[in-house]
Amino acid sequence: MKLLIADNYTALSQQAAADLIKLAGNEKAPLVCPATGDTPAGLYKVLVDKVNNKEVDISCWHFLGLDEWVGMNGEDEGSCRFHLNNQLLFPLQVASDNIIFFDGRANNLQEECSKTEAFIRQQGTIDISVLGLGMNGHIGMNEPGTAIDTRSHVGELDAETQKVGQKYFNTAQRLTAGITLGLGTLMESKHILLLISGAHKAAIVKKALEGAISEKVPGSLLRNHPSLRIYLDKEAAQLLAF
Ligand code: F6R
Repeated sequence: MKLLIADNYTALSQQAAADLIKLAGNEKAPLVCPATGDTPAGLYKVLVDKVNNKEVDISCWHFLGLDEWVGMNGEDEGSCRFHLNNQLLFPLQVASDNIIFFDGRANNLQEECSKTEAFIRQQGTIDISVLGLGMNGHIGMNEPGTAIDTRSHVGELDAETQKVGQKYFNTAQRLTAGITLGLGTLMESKHILLLISGAHKAAIVKKALEGAISEKVPGSLLRNHPSLRIYLDKEAAQLLAF
């Protein structure tokens, strides 16, 4: 596990973007799994700028959506796909053939999960997962208590996720379930970049990085990954002992 404690969010985003680009450069057709959320938005902006400046060519990259609210897809303002479209996929002009994303409005959500797992198998593996950490320690929509070997699945959302998730929407939403890549699926990624920013995350950072490795804090399970890079800013790192 490599830990970077950046001076601020801008430095965190720049370093994570540089590492993502370098790691993706080692692959012919990298499969990248980008999380939605506030934390990776800075990284996505750096990547978009570099692509626009022709410093990076992402035309061979494939993008695999990490998760979606059940009952929503890209048509829904505030959905995971909606935010990722606006922050990353539209500005990068990613071809639709190079995107696979859960449709949380699909009638058969189990089929969505099977399709996604089959796509990953067909590609070989996820090359790089860019992840964030929830206030309750969740990864994607793998809530506390999710088993380490879980594949893509539909799960009930923790009360805290239901509450915190309101920030993505203009009006109050009922967010009861999510469809997500599983922890087992994510642990098979070649590389994991975990980005965490802000004083509000300091307590959960301490639990995830210095507490017991336990399903109670899904983020702590990532410590067993052979190629995990963690990017914190000083605020998020402030309670760490080292
Ligand atoms: C969203 C996702 C979530 C977020 C987490 C942190 O696709 O996977 O697990 O990464 O909730 O969100 P932010 O970055 O907004 O604090």
